[in-house]
Amino acid sequence: MSSQRQRSDRVLYIITCATPAARDVGKLVSLAQASGWRPFVIVTPSALRFIDKPSLEAQTGYPVRSEYKQPGTPDVLPPADAMVVGGASFNTINKWAAGISDTLALGLLTEGIGLSLPLAALPFLNAAQAAHPAFGRSVRELREAGVAMLLGPAGYEPHVPHQGSKHLARYPWHVVLAAVETGRV
Ligand SMILES: Cc1cc2nc3c(=O)[nH]c(=O)nc-3n(C[C@H](O)[C@H](O)[C@H](O)COP(=O)(O)O)c2cc1C
Repeated sequence: MSSQRQRSDRVLYIITCATPAARDVGKLVSLAQASGWRPFVIVTPSALRFIDKPSLEAQTGYPVRSEYKQPGTPDVLPPADAMVVGGASFNTINKWAAGISDTLALGLLTEGIGLSLPLAALPFLNAAQAAHPAFGRSVRELREAGVAMLLGPAGYEPHVPHQGSKHLARYPWHVVLAAVETGRV
């Protein structure tokens, strides 16, 4: 981010995935607005079933995006100063690390690494998912690529399978925002 830019001009892409945490992504929008970001919400296609789209659009004043634009049409999103994934799914984390870009969210996130943008992800997944060998590799590779992967005591500790709903009320949305406040990790 250029130091010349006003805080309220800073564009933040808030991305969420198809997990129960997505229903509360408006909390992250509020935190971002209070910190002087201009947030744009992008969700995976599967996450549309978990969110209240009209409510998020009213909150941000912008459409919630879930699909790539039509070829030949102008970009509808302004360039991002930072991107955060709140409620990052096992699926999207593994695909991000593998360089797959078959959703708009992944297209933005995979390019975000190459653009050296401040990037942070707060997962929401269970301990059985986290124990899969691919997940450990993905977390390591994304950290090596400069992504603040907020897994563990400073972020999210994977929950006991089938008990995720017990953890929604104290899901630490604020940490993913704090991780991009200081720029590239
Ligand atoms: C009710 C429900 C709860 C789910 N909870 C989680 C979860 O907590 N974490 C997770 O990684 N995936 C969870 N999933 C699975 C994801 O929705 C699934 O892997 C999906 O393909 C992820 O797509 P996305 O990464 O494109 O958003 C859940 C699915 C359902 C239907």
